[in-house]
Amino acid sequence: MAKPGFKRSAKRKSSRPYGGAAQRGGKPVAEVEKPKAVFEAAEPLLPRERRSGNRLPQTVSQLLLCEPSPDYALLDTGNGEKLERYGTTTIRRPEGQAMWLPHRPASEWDGADATFTGDTDEEGPGRWKFSDPAREERFPLEVDGLPYWGRFTSFRHTGIFPEQVVHWRSMVKAIEQAPKDRPVSVLNLFGYTGLASLMAARAGAHVTHVDASKKAIGWARENAELAGLADAPIRWICDDAMKFCQRDVRREQTYDIILLDPPAYGRGPKGEVWQLFDHLPHMLDAVRDLQSERPLLTILTAYAIRASHLAMHEIMQEVMAGMDGRLESGELVLRHASAEQTSEDEIARHLTTSMYCRFIGSELNGVNL
Ligand SMILES: C[S@@+](CC[C@H](N)C(=O)[O-])C[C@H]1O[C@@H](n2cnc3c(N)ncnc32)[C@H](O)[C@@H]1O
Repeated sequence: MAKPGFKRSAKRKSSRPYGGAAQRGGKPVAEVEKPKAVFEAAEPLLPRERRSGNRLPQTVSQLLLCEPSPDYALLDTGNGEKLERYGTTTIRRPEGQAMWLPHRPASEWDGADATFTGDTDEEGPGRWKFSDPAREERFPLEVDGLPYWGRFTSFRHTGIFPEQVVHWRSMVKAIEQAPKDRPVSVLNLFGYTGLASLMAARAGAHVTHVDASKKAIGWARENAELAGLADAPIRWICDDAMKFCQRDVRREQTYDIILLDPPAYGRGPKGEVWQLFDHLPHMLDAVRDLQSERPLLTILTAYAIRASHLAMHEIMQEVMAGMDGRLESGELVLRHASAEQTSEDEIARHLTTSMYCRFIGSELNGVNL
C-alpha cells in the first residue's frame, strides 16, 4: 500500500524561510556544531493533510517521575541552580526554574566536585570549576547498569538527560515483550550521546541513531565502546533529522519504536535549520509513515520550549488519528533526594524538566510501562 501524506512538491516552501533565522527565545538544549556559511534546507515541505480515523484513547497531564538512585540524584534546587549527584560526583549548575530557596546547607553546595561557572547564556563558552584540578573532562558513569561517559560540556550539559531513563525503561520493556522471532527496530532521532540507542541495542533491538553533530556521534560511539556494544547492530548516521526522515519515507523504511527529542532550534550538518514550531508537524507526519505495521512506541520529548504538553498532545492526536493504540502525555519530573534532616515536605519536592507525548501501540496493552 502506498504511504500517505509525504509527497514532494517544489511549489511550497516552509512558512519561514530557511537560512539566517534568528534563534528563538528558547535556547538550544545541546551542542550543535557551527554551521558552514551556506545554509541548506531539507526537502521542500508540503501542505499538510488531515489523517482520517478517530482520535486515540488518551491520558494527559501525566507526570513521569525519575526517582533518586545510586546512578543519579537531584540533591537540591534553589537560587537559580541545581545540585546533582552523578554516581559519586556532585555537580552544581544553573537551573532557571529554581526560583525558590535551597533546602541543603551552603556548605554542601560549595563542596560540589564540579561547578558550572560560565555565563548561563548557553551560547557562550562554558567554564567548569573543579574541586580537584586534575579532574578530566569525561568520567565513567552508569545508568541502569549501562556504562557511559559523563562529560563536562561547554554548554553546561553532562552527556545525559537523567530523567529520560523513565522513557528508556518503557522502551526496554516494549523490546523485551516482543516475540523473539520479531526483532524490534528502533529509530532514535536527535540521538545525542546515544544512551537510548545503547539501551535499545542492549535489550536486543536493531537501532538507527541519527544526529547532526559529528561530535555527539563521536561521544555516542565512545559510549558504545565503554558499554561493550561497539559491535551491536546500531547504524550511526550523521544527518539532518528532517532530511533523514524524508529519505527514509521514500525508501518505505519502517520502525517499531521511534524516539524523537528535538531541540527548540538546531542545525543539520550542512547548516539545515531546524525550528521546532515550524518543522515538528512535518516531522511527525514522516514519523507516522515510518511506523511499522505493528508499532510499539513513539516517544516525543521537548525541552526548553515555551508551550504546554497539551500542544504536543494535540499535534500527536492529529498525526496518529486512526492508529491502533493510545496516547499519553505530560511532563518528565525529577524527584529530589531527601536531605538528612528530611521533612515530609522535602520528600515531596520535584523539578519538572520536559514535556512529552507518547504513542503506545495496542501490542503493548496490558504491559505495565
Ligand atoms: C535534546 S538533545 C537529545 C537528547 C537525547 N534524547 C538524550 O536524552 O540523550 C538534541 C540533539 O539534537 C541534535 N540536533 C540538533 N539539530 C539537529 C538536526 N537538524 N538534525 C539532527 N540532529 C540535530 C543535537 O546535535 C543534539 O545531539
